[in-house]
Amino acid sequence: MFARRISLSLIFVSLWLSAACGGRESPEIDTRGSAEVVAMERLAEKGQEIFRDRDFGETGVACIDCHADFDEDRNPDGRIRPGHSILGAHARAHAWNGEFTGAALRHTGAGAAKCAWQFQERGAGIETALSEEEAAALIAFYEYISPDEQIPMLNWTAVTWPGDPDFEKETFEQALAPIEKLRGDQQRGERVYDMACASCHDHGIAPAKRILKRKVDRLPAVVRAGEDGMPFFSRNKLSDQDIADVKAFVARQ
Ligand code: HEC
Ligand code: HEC
Repeated sequence: MFARRISLSLIFVSLWLSAACGGRESPEIDTRGSAEVVAMERLAEKGQEIFRDRDFGETGVACIDCHADFDEDRNPDGRIRPGHSILGAHARAHAWNGEFTGAALRHTGAGAAKCAWQFQERGAGIETALSEEEAAALIAFYEYISPDEQIPMLNWTAVTWPGDPDFEKETFEQALAPIEKLRGDQQRGERVYDMACASCHDHGIAPAKRILKRKVDRLPAVVRAGEDGMPFFSRNKLSDQDIADVKAFVARQ
């Protein structure tokens, strides 16, 4: 996974070698360069720790439970994650469909602070969910693991904006109505459940499916809007039919 790390280490070693073996053309630049590389590497490693840490917030969910840190399109692993891969996130001109731009991207770790507050219950709001250092560490991590090629900007549609004060109940109910009208296929639903839900719901991070069964009528609303540590799934991630199928499967547990 750390192909770039190897190349960074190689740079470091060659800088060190050239300094140690009498390559003294520009020792100052060499020293600064290597120290900078090491500092970036440390920062990226801190970012990776945050990314994997289920105790980072209060809900027991880690970034890695919702986002891939690899290219899911090229290397599919059979999972449907609620969030997109964070590859290329350091280079995006906006996050959360335009909610964060410019300096706000840096302060929020390219929009991650919204997740930390919303899904991990960190801080008292988006502004305090990540420290400056944590935001910088996450950005260093994205950059570290991303390929050099340009990665297209994200464009996704949620049925509602989670935590949006202007959120309209009526609009949301209208968006859910088509799911109720669909006939769910429980066999297909089991496959979708395994890809999209099981990693949290059958691994001790979230209530098991027999618990979900008790409140199965709420399932479409919770999947579309999210709730505490439960992420919302945008239309790009799960279709109305997918949700109807999962509902049919959970109802039969
Ligand atoms: C419970 C699931 C969940 C957790 C935990 C979570 N995220 Fe997210 N995150 C999402 C969803 C859903 C979005 C909406 C955009 C998308 O589909 O990626 C999002 C958006 C983002 C974005 C902005 C994407 C864009 O450009 O619009 C970044 C960056 C990000 N998350 C990083 C993180 C990091 C880093 C962490 C951990 C500190 C984290 N997320 C924790 C679900 C989650
Ligand atoms: C990233 C982890 C994660 C994924 C993936 C996930 N959930 Fe959840 N889910 C949670 C957590 C955590 C909770 C508990 C939220 C809370 O504390 O209220 C939850 C709660 C729920 C609830 C509410 C249960 C209740 O007691 O009210 C439903 C329904 C639900 N999830 C359905 C699903 C379905 C269906 C999927 C797949 C499409 C899914 N979840 C995927 C983490 C996840």
